[in-house]
Amino acid sequence: MSVFPENFLWGGATAANQLEGAYDVDGKGLSVQDVTPDGGMGPITDGPTPDNLKLEAVDFYHHYKEDIVLFAEMGFKVFRLSIAWSRIFPNGDETEPNEAGLQFYDDVFDELAKYGIEPLVTISHYETPLHLSKEYNGWANRKLIDFYAHYAETIFKRYKDKVKYWLTFNEVNSVLHAPFMSGGILTPPEELSKQDLYQAVHHELVASSLATKIGHEINPNFKIGCMVLAMPAYPMTPDPLDQLAVREFENQNYLFSDIHVRGKYPNYIKRYFDENNITIDFAEGDKQLLAEHTVDFVSFSYYMSVAQAHNPEEYSTGKGNIMGGISNPYLESSEWGWQIDPVGLRLVLNDFYDRYQIPLFIVENGLGAKDELVETKNGYTVNDDYRIDYMQKHLQQVGEAVKDGVDIMGYTSWGCIDLVSASTAQLSKRYGFIYVDRDDNGEGSFKRYKKKSFDWYKDVIASNGESL
Ligand code: BG6
Repeated sequence: MSVFPENFLWGGATAANQLEGAYDVDGKGLSVQDVTPDGGMGPITDGPTPDNLKLEAVDFYHHYKEDIVLFAEMGFKVFRLSIAWSRIFPNGDETEPNEAGLQFYDDVFDELAKYGIEPLVTISHYETPLHLSKEYNGWANRKLIDFYAHYAETIFKRYKDKVKYWLTFNEVNSVLHAPFMSGGILTPPEELSKQDLYQAVHHELVASSLATKIGHEINPNFKIGCMVLAMPAYPMTPDPLDQLAVREFENQNYLFSDIHVRGKYPNYIKRYFDENNITIDFAEGDKQLLAEHTVDFVSFSYYMSVAQAHNPEEYSTGKGNIMGGISNPYLESSEWGWQIDPVGLRLVLNDFYDRYQIPLFIVENGLGAKDELVETKNGYTVNDDYRIDYMQKHLQQVGEAVKDGVDIMGYTSWGCIDLVSASTAQLSKRYGFIYVDRDDNGEGSFKRYKKKSFDWYKDVIASNGESL
């Protein structure tokens, strides 16, 4: 018998800016992604440039029907997507929404409903409207709370009978490391003070609570979660100082989920704020809002773990997903240098559940790898055994966590269909079960092909994880 709960939500995850393309179609405005052709953390261009693969991405905007057929064939119970804020409010600060943008997501949700697939919607996934960035300096400005709340209210009302699961901000803790991509903050990171950065964090946290409040008022059945980038850290040695370094690293991440779940700033951050001359400006009502409108569940991405030490300069630093740490000699790495650690996923699940005792949702996990399309007697495929191996090992650890007693709502693998990478803006860094014919030069037919992992995942879902 399967260890996974009967109603476990199996599926895949994406984000509008990496998937949809059609960056200027049907009234869409520009987002921060339309001016970062080298990846969300790279240099910013004046406007869209032809080398920016995200402008067309894999053109889900015009292929969504055939893509959803493929998701349904794999047996998806859930599909995570984001709404591009600038499709709904092209500049972000308008009063009236763009009807064509709203209609597009109506069509996508209706198509998903035909196959019984639940949408899981990220309200803001690294897609702040560019105008909000240029005019207001993004989340550094408190006004963003009102613009975001108006956007959230608009989509909650419009889709109240079509969408039940919502995430307020993708990897909300990433703003500390990627202020422009994550928070639309134009001030260059080296000039951005810690005071302004943590004030921006506060604005996002308040906005998330406000959206949770509004959402539950519109439909009390909504399940609204936070979403954090999870990255467990191991001490390099048993030196207590290394364990302290781990704690300091992890506290910077826990800060976000602690406030989302417990509704207040944790004590440990007070010392950090004091020592860094940070004083958060609380507007009237902020404390109450945070306390009263906590999340229904915690969701997270998990790709890798890191090691930490009190003397990091003595070790070699690994590459990582937005943030990073020291390379762990016990682990292998992906082609992009991200260390592969399935057991880390079990640890993260146990840690979050011990801390909060509310349901968890793994909304991103997967292997970015170079794939080769090969001809078979029945057409073309990719023999991605490396991806199957990665996912199999991670999902086995999810099963172990279920046995440990952790309450897990579901699992959506990242980039279930190939899309443009967030950190490097490449198409050759592929995560999908479905190959899309488009390369790093933007060439290709946009045709879709099933990889070997497609049938593998189909079996996993059909057996509710028993085949793992
Ligand atoms: C997460 C993001 O950080 O990692 C996704 O939420 C991103 O948007 C994913 O695509 C994988 O990272 P990358 O850089 O390989 O695309």
